[in-house]
Amino acid sequence: ERDIIQSLPLRSKKILITAGPTFEAIDPVRFIGNHSSGKMGFAIAEAAANLGAQVLLITGPVSLKTDNAAIEVISVQSAQEMYDATHAGFGSCDIAILSAAVADYKPVVVASEKIKKKDSSLTLELEKTKDILASLGAIKKSQFLVGFALETENELENAKTKLKKKNLDLIVLNSLKDKGAGFKSDTNKVTLITKDNKVLPFPVKAKSEVAIDILNHIIEQIHA
Ligand code: CTP
Ligand code: CA
Repeated sequence: ERDIIQSLPLRSKKILITAGPTFEAIDPVRFIGNHSSGKMGFAIAEAAANLGAQVLLITGPVSLKTDNAAIEVISVQSAQEMYDATHAGFGSCDIAILSAAVADYKPVVVASEKIKKKDSSLTLELEKTKDILASLGAIKKSQFLVGFALETENELENAKTKLKKKNLDLIVLNSLKDKGAGFKSDTNKVTLITKDNKVLPFPVKAKSEVAIDILNHIIEQIHA
């Protein structure tokens, strides 16, 4: 048993993972959100725990649960709450994998009462949220930082730009064009792009298997 435990490649590593959507409040009963299920992030959390890691999983509103004792779950709603929880955990982690579908915009004001229907149209003013991943790229020390890129056009080029701009060690390109890929699906098709611009395409696989592919690559890199 001792040998098995010692051979776990992520033993003694702390991994921070973000997952799911964020909800940006409009008023007490409404929000701006997206269709992210959190499945990819939860799959990475489970796989990392199975490889011996201690996992901090920061998740937006999802219907998923985990009972893995090696996974600590922090549930958040908004991009700002996810930003705060992520920054609180980042300093003590070895690897951070940001798979959440964070809202890019939020309402400038949150109405304190339910907005009543009027005869006229309604315009909401939105402002940008903070980019959590980019903010970590700007402060990272020895952490291995991984982002996702969700693209529908110019996929490789856009993903490479994100990798550079956000100072990442690895980016996981998630193409929505592919069959068997996307938010609700149990499968995904990804391409890994490394800091030195290596492009590694993978076939459509179960998200649990995609999670292992991503972690295997990280393990190779941190031991190299
Ligand atoms: N991300 C983040 N905080 C945000 C927005 C995005 O941490 N406010 C992270 C996501 O978790 C993902 C990566 O940044 O790991 C890329 O997200 P994506 O939506 O593909 O890219 P953006 O930089 O937001 O650009 P755009 O949506 O315009 O393509
Ligand atoms: Ca975005």
